[in-house]
Amino acid sequence: MAEQLSERAVAACLRAAVAAPSMHNTQPWRFRFDGAAFDVFPDAERALHSADPDGRALHISVGAAVCNLRVALAAGGRVSRLEPAGERSSRLELAGRRGSLPEHGGAAVRVIAGGVREPSPDMQALALAIARRRTNREPFADAAVPSALLESLQRAAATGRTRLVVLDPVRRGAVLAITQAADAWLRADPGYRRELARWTSEHADRRDGVSAAVFGAKATTAALPLRDFGLELPRLSRAAARFERHPTVVVLHARGDTPAAWLEAGAALQRVLLTATVHGLSAQPMTQALEVPHLRRLLTPPGERWYPQMILRIGYGDQVAASPRRPLRTFVTQLAGAA
Ligand SMILES: Cc1cc2nc3c(=O)[nH]c(=O)nc-3n(C[C@H](O)[C@H](O)[C@H](O)COP(=O)(O)O)c2cc1C
Repeated sequence: MAEQLSERAVAACLRAAVAAPSMHNTQPWRFRFDGAAFDVFPDAERALHSADPDGRALHISVGAAVCNLRVALAAGGRVSRLEPAGERSSRLELAGRRGSLPEHGGAAVRVIAGGVREPSPDMQALALAIARRRTNREPFADAAVPSALLESLQRAAATGRTRLVVLDPVRRGAVLAITQAADAWLRADPGYRRELARWTSEHADRRDGVSAAVFGAKATTAALPLRDFGLELPRLSRAAARFERHPTVVVLHARGDTPAAWLEAGAALQRVLLTATVHGLSAQPMTQALEVPHLRRLLTPPGERWYPQMILRIGYGDQVAASPRRPLRTFVTQLAGAA
């Protein structure tokens, strides 16, 4: 029987988990700790019904939180293993919530804390990167990312069921053009705009969502179609800036397109982002093309069983502000047995 985690260790794991990225900073996760294991659930109340009707981005966010939780456990000297959480507990969590996602029942995860193991220096470095990682929406330097670094990001993603593809200039051009079309499509969708309005604000006066402090500069060229978080705040003036001329763009794929595959993609995404942070690289998801189904299909060649789950721009950026997180107690359903 593994030693119980201290209350402090449980809190550290939860703090690490909620530092994960989530679409529009919705923080769509909930946790339960029973003394030996953390159950991590998608929070259907925080789903983006317009931009993410299937809950794909939501599960990616939860997968990233699970990765952080396991890295924190490992850095604290504990191994962990994953189990799908029971159908029953998952349903319980989703039941009665507005906009519940019954089809996702069972797609929650149980992280079981196991035996004691001295953390490797690499693991400690990843754990330290959790609090330093941020989405960087500002211009990156024109310097190319060395191929050895890109390979280490690919190794961080690779599991046999997830992979990271670094786009060559031709494919990058195609993906950016599809992203541009997707961005125009989303802007024309009143549901998308309403949702964006709900999750963006001019002032940093809330602990979720994206505030103007981190919207980033406007790109002077339409060739880099970054999401415009200020779309529903037209009075807000934002500086325009020249972004990197040849952005490094990578696409994360999963070997399926189910809630379980999305959770795995989220964990792979987070390993990539933490590895990037360790090496002084910044990253920005740019996922509009994944939110318009007929355009997303253009990124999935016919007959392929790899599905695109995340698109990232990567490079060398300056330090940016952190986005806030809600207090831990708002995420936790039950904390039992913490010594
Ligand atoms: C599935 C997913 C999609 C995202 N899409 C975008 C995007 O298109 N543009 C963007 O700037 N950030 C995007 N983000 C980043 C989130 O907005 C960001 O994680 C969140 O605001 C919290 O900020 P942080 O990453 O700095 O902690 C995405 C994140 C996730 C997990």
